[in-house]
Amino acid sequence: MAKLGVNIDHVATLRQARREGIPDIVKAAKAVAAGGADSITVHLRLDRRHINEKDVYRLKNEDILPLNLEMAASGEIIEIALDVRPAMVCIVPEKRQELTTEGGLDVASHRDLLRETASKLKEIESEVSFFVDPSVESVREAASCGADAVELHTGRYANTSGSEREAELEKLKTAAAETLKLGMKLNAGHGLNYDNLVPVRDIEGMNDLNIGYSIVCRSVFTGLENAVREMAELIR
Ligand code: PXP
Repeated sequence: MAKLGVNIDHVATLRQARREGIPDIVKAAKAVAAGGADSITVHLRLDRRHINEKDVYRLKNEDILPLNLEMAASGEIIEIALDVRPAMVCIVPEKRQELTTEGGLDVASHRDLLRETASKLKEIESEVSFFVDPSVESVREAASCGADAVELHTGRYANTSGSEREAELEKLKTAAAETLKLGMKLNAGHGLNYDNLVPVRDIEGMNDLNIGYSIVCRSVFTGLENAVREMAELIR
């Protein structure tokens, strides 16, 4: 059965709107755990637009749920990850101007850096996943760099409809089958919500589904614990 990782970046986005310390990130993580999630995801961006390193350390030290740290393969952030020792690290591409992570990693163009980063993180026993577009080539590249898992980018699937979405789902299924064939864990995320989740959940071998924005948006109306519970029930 697939598991639910909840991305709480946007709880920190709300906090940063006033920088007054609320809503508290640890309190949010506790609500996420109470709602039945399996892990907590945060993206420590280079520009610290939402999550900052204090949040990452607090979430790790409070040990509420296993921590999945999303990060770019950048020196400063790698050093923080090596010190924090999160249960999982997801390496993502990062552009300063983007509103959210726009595409998967271009593994082929950064092979040496990504291989070295994966190897350092594996030394501290973090499970390393690469956030990639759903293609057989990207999955093979991730495996060749030593990734333990891939997280397939579901953004295009989420942002299309009709036959285009069907085609994106087929790409996800093909990339998923390759991931399993190469012995890696299969995760997915980006743009997943209460309406589009089920076909992705049902992909053979799905492990972690990392979902943030739709849950935090729903929490405005239902509270975070309930919003997480609804998503957890949908997964199970
Ligand atoms: N997985 C990765 C690698 C991401 O970068 C994001 C967005 O931060 C998510 C999952 C969650 O995406 P969303 O907030 O659209 O659910």
